[in-house]
Amino acid sequence: MSRVYTWDGSFELLSGETMLEGLERQGYVVEYQCRAGYCGSCRTPLVDGQVEYLIEPLAYINPDEVLPCCCRPAPEARVDVEVLTNNRNHSDEANSEAWDESLVKLF
Ligand code: FES
Repeated sequence: MSRVYTWDGSFELLSGETMLEGLERQGYVVEYQCRAGYCGSCRTPLVDGQVEYLIEPLAYINPDEVLPCCCRPAPEARVDVEVLTNNRNHSDEANSEAWDESLVKLF
């Protein structure tokens, strides 16, 4: 079993599921582009634990980062990841307002 811990909870990955697919299934929003370890868009901080890559990623990552699009927590290990946004408890309208607020803070 592979368990993913985030700042607000944890969940088990399904068989054959990548960490990115599991995060999406749980309602997290993680930025991505290629979903194949090439672009680095899904780069996510690894707080604790280890992962194993299903394919050898080409994107550069720091030792404390992972590419959830092509990895799973190592067997019998648990990892903590931080994600960019969590929309699990919001309606689409609330999400839109949250994104608007985020954009306002940027400018
Ligand atoms: S989405 Fe491109 S490396 Fe993960």
